[in-house]
Amino acid sequence: MRVWRGVLGLLGATLLAAAAPVAPPVPTGAAGPLAYGTAWYPEQWPEATWDADLQRMQAAGFTFVRVAEFAWSTIEPTEGRYDWAWLDRAIAKAAAHDLKVVLGTPTAAPPAWLTARYPEVLLVEEDGRPARHGARRHFSVGSALYRQKAAAIAGAMAARYGGKPAVIGVQVDNEYGRATFDAETRRRFQQWLRAKYSSIDRFNAAYHGAQWSLAYSDWAQVPIPGAGDSPSLYLDWLRFFSEQWRDYQQVQIDAIRPHLPGDRFITTNFTGRYDNFDFALTAQPLDLVSWDWYFPGPRVDPAEGGLLHDMNRGFLGRNFWIMETAPGNTNWAERNYTMPRGEVRAMAWQAVGHGADGYAFWTWRPALGGVEQFHGALTDAGGRPQPVYAEAAQVGAEFARVRDVIAGTVPIADTAMLHDFPSRWAIRRQPMTVDFNPFTLFTDFYRAVRPSVAGVAVLNQPTDLKRYKLVVAPLPHVIDAAAAKALADYVRGGGHLVLGPRSGVKDPTNALWTPGAPGPLAALVGAHVDQTHVPPAPIAVTGDIATGSAAIWAERLAIDAPDVTVLMRYPRSADWLDDAPAVVTRRVGRGRVTYVGVWLDAAALQKLLAWCAAQAGAAPLLPGVPDGVEVAARSGGGRTTHVVINWATSEQSLPLPPGMTSLLDGAPAGPRLTLPPWGVAVLGQR
Ligand code: GAL
Repeated sequence: MRVWRGVLGLLGATLLAAAAPVAPPVPTGAAGPLAYGTAWYPEQWPEATWDADLQRMQAAGFTFVRVAEFAWSTIEPTEGRYDWAWLDRAIAKAAAHDLKVVLGTPTAAPPAWLTARYPEVLLVEEDGRPARHGARRHFSVGSALYRQKAAAIAGAMAARYGGKPAVIGVQVDNEYGRATFDAETRRRFQQWLRAKYSSIDRFNAAYHGAQWSLAYSDWAQVPIPGAGDSPSLYLDWLRFFSEQWRDYQQVQIDAIRPHLPGDRFITTNFTGRYDNFDFALTAQPLDLVSWDWYFPGPRVDPAEGGLLHDMNRGFLGRNFWIMETAPGNTNWAERNYTMPRGEVRAMAWQAVGHGADGYAFWTWRPALGGVEQFHGALTDAGGRPQPVYAEAAQVGAEFARVRDVIAGTVPIADTAMLHDFPSRWAIRRQPMTVDFNPFTLFTDFYRAVRPSVAGVAVLNQPTDLKRYKLVVAPLPHVIDAAAAKALADYVRGGGHLVLGPRSGVKDPTNALWTPGAPGPLAALVGAHVDQTHVPPAPIAVTGDIATGSAAIWAERLAIDAPDVTVLMRYPRSADWLDDAPAVVTRRVGRGRVTYVGVWLDAAALQKLLAWCAAQAGAAPLLPGVPDGVEVAARSGGGRTTHVVINWATSEQSLPLPPGMTSLLDGAPAGPRLTLPPWGVAVLGQR
């Protein structure tokens, strides 16, 4: 069971220290500090183009290419007949241009001969139809045969290339997570449930199977849950499904590892805001977490980017890589906008500020065929640099200037934010309003707290909280008693805890806590939730610290302890919510807990969390930072580097403390720093 506990004593031991963080040793040594690169598909292009392409990559300051992650049918055109020659030459050519190589195992794209000969490896859709060949990711993660085939090709690749000096690491598969409803996976799931609950009676009791005659008399009756099935089954399914990806990954790791020197990494590329399985669990056997940063809108949301960087860093408590990001536009959104000038550069620096030690684009050249012809690339179809190439090359030159300074440093954080997948899954299945998107709630809390603190470490377990002045848990909706106790101990010991709406509602089986929310947190909070509302129109919420409104969610709180202070209330005539408390706070032991029972608008939430941060003694890295400007810092080895980014659409300026130097041009910085929109400053201490 993985609800805020379990494997992560391990993680707690390596989490980022608030003040003087030390980077734990990771086998990314061969990559060097701050790797910079692009996906490159030599199999899609005439060999005559390779030299010119690699030459342009080198000129852009790239240090690596990622190859082969969909190239199975080129490597093994028919079963057992391998053609390595082209990949041998591609890797040698990359090395000749001083480009290192990240090798992708091609298992996200099984070839047609494989699925034709072994159709049992295909995933099955919810309606019972097997996937057909034609796109990618059409295999079943639960197929034992597919695991064998995947391990074989991964092992063969690693045996051939793992020891090559140019190869710095291996990416297993590509963007895991496609669901399957096939019979083999269903049987595995039934066995998994049996191992977990040991008897069908215990299983029925845990699931409250008396409702709607949901009690089973045989394990073989238990389905893979669809939309209408029990929430308990759904949560267990996603736990099981997460383990399937972990196990599928492990067979590849086992095949690869023996062929890799100790300073080469194994990673996989996660998918940003998605929650189709538990990334934190699947990350545990990896050396390095990397993720793919895409967004559908016309401009990046820097709060979402910052949250995702910090969240991915939290999976292993280590610096991470961006393995893919679009240089300009995607091709799969409803509207595929081109990013404004300067945004590609600002994004690269934001990632570095938040702990990226590698950054790569997708893609280099558009494929002439296939469904991604119109995706953003650094060159056009003929290999001529696109306008954005110059911006990428500017980043390359800038990375070269700071590489040595930021080597071995990790982000500073005085605040932790707690995140867990089961809570997101539970809410996603029963949101109560289509507007209650759990990831958006996390992003709103992150957006609101980030300007008031030095930096945020996102944790997947409430472990080692004492390192942080402030802990924000926007949605510990599914929580067990041990996690609730860890939070209470943190507060009693002097910590400051902020809880968001719908906290403490469900136990680990996704059953309701009794007598009601916030369940095992109620004694700490000194209040409980009397009633919940989806406001038909925004409702005012007022208080001395902040005043605003709630459009998505509003809870009527009832006070249970005399020392609880009401920070915000609903108006006097608001039907059931008449004058009721919406936000409460309480000193407990040497610390404080604040319960925010309402999804507040951005400005009000920012004011409220600024107050919480000030109470906790958390503070921004630099004083006087205007709205829209983000500051992040990395430190280690006695050095601190600040990254300052102006995300606002107008010029902004801020005071700088004495002694800072601009690392990008070597000039002294201050006493004021002025940045144009999307402007970036990288500052060292003189
Ligand atoms: C990613 C995927 C890439 C490419 C990219 C396009 O999800 O890993 O192979 O398809 O999207 O945005």
